[in-house]
Amino acid sequence: MEINKIHNEDCLKTMASMPDNFIDLSITSPPYDNLRDYNGYTFEFEKIAKELFRVTKKGGVLVWVVGDATIKGNETGSSFKQALYFKEVGFNLHDTMVWHKPNSFNFGSNDCYRQSFEYMFVFSKGRISKVNLIKDLPTKLAGKIVKGARKHANGVRDVVPDFVVSSHKKRNNVWEIPVGTSNNGHPAIFPEKLAEDHILSWSNKGDLIYDPMMGSGTVAKMALLNNRNFIGSEISKEYCEEANKRIRSLLQQSRLKL
Ligand SMILES: C[S@@+](CC[C@H](N)C(=O)[O-])C[C@H]1O[C@@H](n2cnc3c(N)ncnc32)[C@H](O)[C@@H]1O
Repeated sequence: MEINKIHNEDCLKTMASMPDNFIDLSITSPPYDNLRDYNGYTFEFEKIAKELFRVTKKGGVLVWVVGDATIKGNETGSSFKQALYFKEVGFNLHDTMVWHKPNSFNFGSNDCYRQSFEYMFVFSKGRISKVNLIKDLPTKLAGKIVKGARKHANGVRDVVPDFVVSSHKKRNNVWEIPVGTSNNGHPAIFPEKLAEDHILSWSNKGDLIYDPMMGSGTVAKMALLNNRNFIGSEISKEYCEEANKRIRSLLQQSRLKL
């Protein structure tokens, strides 16, 4: 299986050539509810979900970024159905996260609030094995010394050393990240920060990161910039060529080598 490559094919074909327990982390956003017309895609969700479970390493993670379309005033609920199906095939639902888009340009229908988020379902295969939570939320009591000893109701004291409150604590699971601008004509790209922060949170250097629906190549780019390897699948020839161009130009501009 050739790695550090975007395969121009259906992800089911790419995964069919992967052994079991092969991928450390997958990050992807599927085409949902026929909201956008991608050139010639076929999307067999249930087969893809089963294959993603098979190829994920034990302890590995899948991040599935998805929203719902509203059809005739009724939200489809596909996101929830998919999340529950991933549980059915064996994944643990580790964290239901939200990507809040402060600059969302989806105004929603007249009788709904502006549509400004997508789910980021984080699944693990068994107990999650790599967790490097990002700590960038400022702490109010930063620098204060907290007395460690605690007195229980029965008068017994725990002997715990005093500690200094650190300047930052782990961030919330709602991530506010502006929507990226269209890159090379792809209509639905991930912001680079979204891909990068998941890569940093759920994988280590040298790991293998997969995006089964690679689009413009954001996950590949951020994997390389963070010293990980990648594999991608993208069914559209046009998007695949553009994504490959993006990776080639990254390699030319940086000292990175495949
Ligand atoms: C929402 S976009 C992904 C965008 C990507 N996250 C980015 O940053 O550019 C979904 C992509 O999945 C591709 N796609 C749809 N079905 C596919 C399949 N069965 N196998 C591989 N790619 C597929 C579409 O062509 C589209 O580019």
